[in-house]
Amino acid sequence: MMRRSVGEKIVYVGMSADFIHHGHINIISTARKLGKVVVGLLTDEAIASYKRVPILTFEQRKQIIENLAGVDKVIPQKTLDYVENLKKVKPDFVVHGDDWKTGVQRETRERVIRVLKEWGGKLVEPRYTSGISSTQLINSSIREGVSPSYRIREFRRMLELKPIVRIMEAHNGLTGLIIEKTNVQRRGRLVTFDGMWESSLTDSASKGKPDTSAVDVTSRLQTIEQILEVTTKPLVVDGDNGGVPEHFVFTVKSLERLGVSAVVIEDKIGIKRNSLFGTDVDQTQDSIEAFCEKINRGKKAQVETDFMIIARIESLILKQGIADALKRAKNYIKAGADGILIHSKEKTPDEIFEFCKEYQKFEYKVPLTVVPSTFSSVREEEFEKAGVRMVIYANQLLRSAYPAMQNTAELILKNGRAQEADELCLPIGEVIKLIPDSQ
Ligand code: SPV
Ligand code: MG
Repeated sequence: MMRRSVGEKIVYVGMSADFIHHGHINIISTARKLGKVVVGLLTDEAIASYKRVPILTFEQRKQIIENLAGVDKVIPQKTLDYVENLKKVKPDFVVHGDDWKTGVQRETRERVIRVLKEWGGKLVEPRYTSGISSTQLINSSIREGVSPSYRIREFRRMLELKPIVRIMEAHNGLTGLIIEKTNVQRRGRLVTFDGMWESSLTDSASKGKPDTSAVDVTSRLQTIEQILEVTTKPLVVDGDNGGVPEHFVFTVKSLERLGVSAVVIEDKIGIKRNSLFGTDVDQTQDSIEAFCEKINRGKKAQVETDFMIIARIESLILKQGIADALKRAKNYIKAGADGILIHSKEKTPDEIFEFCKEYQKFEYKVPLTVVPSTFSSVREEEFEKAGVRMVIYANQLLRSAYPAMQNTAELILKNGRAQEADELCLPIGEVIKLIPDSQ
């Protein structure tokens, strides 16, 4: 309970305030007429749990809000839900724009009303200031583009703040745009992809080449550039095995210069073969010493502090067992890896979860990533519970596009015209809408 003088009323206002506009001022001016204003400022974690990581940190946002006329106190609100703070503050009033009567915040509002009743508090809902929202402002400024450093930094903050980071494969500008724009409601929450994966498999396949590093780094950099040019979300690059250490240092510099947030390198040597072949083809794992040396040289080469090198362990793919995978994880972390990716091609996630369980016991951990291509039945929530911090959907956009294209090609051949395929195709108008500047 807040200390208050006799007769003084306390007014609670919850906000993210990542981009202050007159709508916030309208709320605060309503609130200050009712009493002493306490702002419950959403923490970075609370904001990241339901939308993009905030542009300004909690401390920066706090400094701004504390200096607004009419604000008496700023306290952290650690969840989207107000109840915990309201029980502490016991305000006489909560002020919030009336926009939350519908949509995803409806239940939050109902809980506020319910808890206020316990001490006779009231909810005051001034008309929502229309035509303006922080999300809109942020989106329109981001649409102008983001700098390479911003993109790199944003990814590291995401890994610190988000419950789990959701990454989807892109192999060209168009797939990048799909990842940029696709959003759905899942259990009352807006769900989006947090970033992109530039996969060696799908970049190669979309060029009609095998996943054997036949598509070289220079060509991969062109695809990466193409994706970065039309998107704003962080990009994680599949760096195969990074090449020889002498070359890897150049790759690191090229990637960070473009604004790639992280590179994943796998601990294999020799002619590159896709992991999903497992032991059906010749694949050789690198020695721990040599791979640690590669990580270390990469870390020394980077200029951007927040650029990440993620070490991918192939022990389960190559049937070397969990103990070997864990030993490698420990060593790679010691060598400076910013993240660990544990790969598996099993249909069930058992070995992955076993690894996760043991990994959680490490004294020093870095964010853990999984690639559920074969064990695709597992939901993100289960990975999150097992301590996984990032999920990469590594190839689904290409895999879904290919049968659709093949089907269309066959229909046209069979019928000697295109009409039968029309209904399978995106209307031209929709294609145009997908590409921002041609609207
Ligand atoms: C890729 O997407 O190219 C990967 C993941 O490296 S996997 O294909 O599973 O090896
Ligand atoms: Mg690959």
